Amino acid sequence: MQSDGSSFPEAVEKLASEAGMEIPKDDPQQEEKARERQSLYDVLARVQELYRQNLYTAEGREGLAYLTRRGLREETLERFGLGWSGDGRSLVAALRADGITVEQLAQVGLMRLGEAGHPRGELFFNRVTFPIRDRKGRVISFGGRILGDGQPKYLNGPETPLFSKRRTLFNLDHATQAVRKGAELVVVEGYMDAIALDQAGLQGAVAPLGTALGEEQLELLWRLTPRPIICLDGDQAGQRAALRVCEVALPLLSAEKSLSFCRLSEGDDPDSFVQREGATAMAERFAHARPMVEELFNLLSVREVNPGPEQRAALRERLIALSRQIPERNLASEYRSTFLDLFFERFRRHKGKRGARSPGRVSTGPREPRSVAEGAVERLNVLTVLIVCHPAILPHIEQAYTQLMLPDTLNDVREAVLEWADQSEELTAENCQKWMQEHGLGEVLSSLIDGPLPRTLRSARSDDDMLKVDVLESWWHFYALVNFASFEREVQQSVEDVLMAAYSKSSDSSEGERFPVSILARMKVVEALKRGEQPELDEGTDAPP
Ligand code: UTP
Ligand code: MN
Repeated sequence: MQSDGSSFPEAVEKLASEAGMEIPKDDPQQEEKARERQSLYDVLARVQELYRQNLYTAEGREGLAYLTRRGLREETLERFGLGWSGDGRSLVAALRADGITVEQLAQVGLMRLGEAGHPRGELFFNRVTFPIRDRKGRVISFGGRILGDGQPKYLNGPETPLFSKRRTLFNLDHATQAVRKGAELVVVEGYMDAIALDQAGLQGAVAPLGTALGEEQLELLWRLTPRPIICLDGDQAGQRAALRVCEVALPLLSAEKSLSFCRLSEGDDPDSFVQREGATAMAERFAHARPMVEELFNLLSVREVNPGPEQRAALRERLIALSRQIPERNLASEYRSTFLDLFFERFRRHKGKRGARSPGRVSTGPREPRSVAEGAVERLNVLTVLIVCHPAILPHIEQAYTQLMLPDTLNDVREAVLEWADQSEELTAENCQKWMQEHGLGEVLSSLIDGPLPRTLRSARSDDDMLKVDVLESWWHFYALVNFASFEREVQQSVEDVLMAAYSKSSDSSEGERFPVSILARMKVVEALKRGEQPELDEGTDAPP
């Protein structure tokens, strides 16, 4: 059953016949049905042969040119059995010689039916044909694409005794074999997406049949792998579809049945992406597919740019309600708490206690921890990334950094950075990032680095490309934006402290001691901000569309 995807009786029958045994069929009616089904498969196989041939006749020339123009190679056309329907008046006549009747063609869904259910004409004319195969590779229906821009773009065969859209996935037979050899199982929206991925060597792609992905299709996927990747079109419709997939999947989730999501930019589908960027880039995207819990949070919160209390409360309720749909209690509670973590990280003012600080780092000043103004998370990210990429500035900003109120993830990073700095000989970016990776923060770090950053930082290739003073200034600039009023007071205070210290020491010969770099940098920032200068952020490398 597992190797061929057969049902139990089918598997028994096959093994028996290989062993030269016959399974007694006690029900003559069943036997008759099986014969009928078999003859319908034969009808479709014969139609497929004909459609294939058409593609290489004068009539099918346009279809062949179209497929070639779309980047498909000859061996791909062959592998997927793409064909040409003809003009819609030749099928019946051509198959009559094989003893195939109009009624049979109607039974496999290839005729349009009149009001009384009588066959009135062929389903497809002037379309490229995409055979739809079942898990065993038998043709069970067709999709047909018009050349150019007519409507409907795709026409699919109707439900028949052989073809159930809910229970079928385009290309599942090929994908099953590929997944067993280690390919990623990926769900895409369109036939062309699945075919383009296959041609590029990513052979685990399947697509639903022009309908939303349903429960039974998810179950088919989970037989192959616990976490198939959903990679839909990058447009609004694709995002709505992703949300629908999540809603269908939630009540079915378990530790062995989940999904991950790969988001493409607006205007891309897997077909256009892989043809433009290549298979390696696509595989890279798949490798970084997001867990469902994150995708779901992002899909629901993406429109809440600056939500008030009502919107925040509604979003929270929705998240909690969604996690309740998961029947496994432990998993539901994990979803709930992850949702809330993400929620607080994104939206909530951070008040109250901060995570424990490493010993020996108790803040010296009497200042209260500052609270994080709304919308400041991005700036806090930047502050963190600047340190991780240029840890040499750490001694100059350490006190301010330790006193920042940070959301949990950034707080974790801070604790790690400080711990690393304590025991590290040389404060280099490479050492720091390596250490973070070894301590399980690699992913957090790369997502931070993928977010919006100062342009100068992104374009700098090494520690040296950006001078320490520039980094320091940049750091204070973002720090100041978190709360300018108190920043200005602090700088003033520090200046006074330094002057006082210099004054009281003036009798000792302390010539050569310069005004501390970090205070100079902060004074420059105060001036810049008073002039109304804002540091520039880019959009991040992974900004949602
Ligand atoms: P798309 O329009 O995204 O397909 O529809 P696509 O593969 O990108 O199309 P082209 O050829 O590259 O332009 C996704 C799927 O939705 C179904 C088909 O199954 C299609 O593969 N569909 C689409 C229909 O059934 N009917 C339609 O009119 C359009
Ligand atoms: Mn497309």
